[in-house]
Amino acid sequence: MNGTGKTFYITTPIYYPSDKLHIGHSYCTVAADVMARFKRMQGYDVMFLTGTDEHGQKIEEKAKAAGVTPQAYVDHVVAGIKDLWKLLNIANDRFIRTTDDYHVESVQHIFKALYDKGYIYKGTYKGKYCTPCESFWTESQLKDGKCPDCGRDVTDAEEEAYFFRLSQFAEPLMKYYEEHPDFMEPQSRLNEMVNNFIRPGLEDLCVSRTSFSWGIPVTFDPGHIVYVWVDALSNYITALGYGNDRYHDFEKYWPVDVHFVGKEIMRFHSIIWPAMLMALDLPLPKKVYGHGWLLLEGGKMSKSKGNVVDPVVLVQRYGVDAIRFFLLREFPFGSDGLFSNEGLIARINADLANDLGNLVSRSVAMAEKYFPEGLPASRRPEPIDEEVLSIARSLRDNYEAQMENYAFQNALIEVFKLISRTNKYIDETTPWVLAKDEANRDRLATVLYNLLECVRICGILLCPFMPATSPKIFQQIGAPAESTTYEAAGQWGLLPAQVQVHKGEVLFPRIDVAKELEELENARQAAIKAAEAATPKAEPVPAPEGVATLITIEDFAKVEFKVAKILACEPVKRAKKLLRLELDDGSGTPRQVVSGIHTWYEPEDLIGKKLVLVANLKPAVLCGVESNGMILAADAGENDVKVLFVDDSIPCGAKVR
Ligand code: MSP
Repeated sequence: MNGTGKTFYITTPIYYPSDKLHIGHSYCTVAADVMARFKRMQGYDVMFLTGTDEHGQKIEEKAKAAGVTPQAYVDHVVAGIKDLWKLLNIANDRFIRTTDDYHVESVQHIFKALYDKGYIYKGTYKGKYCTPCESFWTESQLKDGKCPDCGRDVTDAEEEAYFFRLSQFAEPLMKYYEEHPDFMEPQSRLNEMVNNFIRPGLEDLCVSRTSFSWGIPVTFDPGHIVYVWVDALSNYITALGYGNDRYHDFEKYWPVDVHFVGKEIMRFHSIIWPAMLMALDLPLPKKVYGHGWLLLEGGKMSKSKGNVVDPVVLVQRYGVDAIRFFLLREFPFGSDGLFSNEGLIARINADLANDLGNLVSRSVAMAEKYFPEGLPASRRPEPIDEEVLSIARSLRDNYEAQMENYAFQNALIEVFKLISRTNKYIDETTPWVLAKDEANRDRLATVLYNLLECVRICGILLCPFMPATSPKIFQQIGAPAESTTYEAAGQWGLLPAQVQVHKGEVLFPRIDVAKELEELENARQAAIKAAEAATPKAEPVPAPEGVATLITIEDFAKVEFKVAKILACEPVKRAKKLLRLELDDGSGTPRQVVSGIHTWYEPEDLIGKKLVLVANLKPAVLCGVESNGMILAADAGENDVKVLFVDDSIPCGAKVR
């Protein structure tokens, strides 16, 4: 299928370089990379685009707080994002930054073109604005008075602004959806968009701001900055050279085959973006796939909730392929999925260490042991082989059907059906028994050849998911390059008849679950601290010797200290150092706090005592247990810690100041 002359253009959202990215962000990029690799394997000319969305008030504020320019701030974070994609083995063809000159130039061109065509006009904006989401809302769109996307407070906004005539596009959009029933996927997203946004009525969209400056100025009215979403969405065409001379692939790759986006930004991609394209007289995307979120107990991952999972830590511990595999095997792409360390380790152990790892190592080890010079060419097939062979023969087509539907999980399930069936085939054919009798040599060679063939086919189909592992598998089973193409995955018997294997490293070592869970939690905490330390910060005011940093009385007043009594206490499972405390903080409802003091205290040392609680700390989850606050303790020696107990006469809930 190589050199089909067909193109495939796939994009991820461009990421805000406001913080380090977490595993939730990596999800979409890994999925897009898998799809891009699959299409390349099929012979498509692929353009896989990702990048960063660098403008807007949020970044401007972050940079200010850090005491650096917005450009210096984003440069630092973007470098980290690029490193992360390298670590995750992301083979994107292009990386766009919205601060790139050519993009700025193109966006200005697009804005002007829309203005000249009468789709953008000047008016007054009155409404609500959510700064973290960079989104304008009308009163009726708010949920309980808050931003309907993120639930945070919105602010009043009134200013002169430019508007895009989005209201004109309700009908053309509905028509497009009807004529292209596969435009939005999963299908449930279409209903959401139509019922929540189009049916209630589309209003014109405010597409410029004057209250901040970190963005692309409107050329014909430079006090106005182009609304970040107009800036950001345009990346999908500016990166191909639309409106600039930097690239020249617009004709070749547009319209895009698929935009991968998280479900909360579906609205921008399936309503605003197509309307902009219609206004520009450009073809619309073939598909927008709104994938689900990776959740942690407690909701969507977000740094402000303190519940993020660092992909770097995971890759360092388990290897990039295990993480890529897990993300796409564990969760159906279109739905939300609950991420847990337990789930991750169980999946690696069951599928990779046991099923795949064992199949490869047993097959290779037996081939090497029984035929160190390579397999003999003579064969003796038996009816018992048929079922395995027939699954193997139809696997590529079944896999392909799932992949074409973006059903990554199902595609992997198909591959693992063959892996499990082949492992069972080993038990059925018992090669070690055959090896005892010289008369069975042909039969033994047949069984081993069948095993290696199944491994070869699975290796090919796993390649987009685990691009570092498949070549190791091919090396171990002695597969020549021509037997490892996508086309070869659809054919049986391509390994040389006298194939010679080469035993190699264990692909996926089995993980000790209990030990690992504790270490993971410790590593997560350490990574959060390191990330905080790495964020550029404003120069601190020098503090007197022996004092860490000077803070103002207002800073101090932000912390709420209260006296609380320990009602109950127990060790946290699988975490040697943690104790779970139940406290009476005077509120009438017991409060749960997790503290790392088990090295120095047993529960019975603590129950009934009173201490000082930091009562307004953001909740955090430690080893799966939610902690709502922190207790005060002092470093009493090199490796000694003492809790600051207080006099029993002080009532629970008393303020400490
Ligand atoms: N900059 C905009 C996108 C502009 S595209 C023209 C943006 N950036 S983002 O960094 O906030 O998010 C990028 C993507 O990461 C979104 O698709 C979002 O859904 C996804 N995710 C962020 N957290 C996620 C999870 N916990 N799980 C899965 N995806 C998540 O939005």
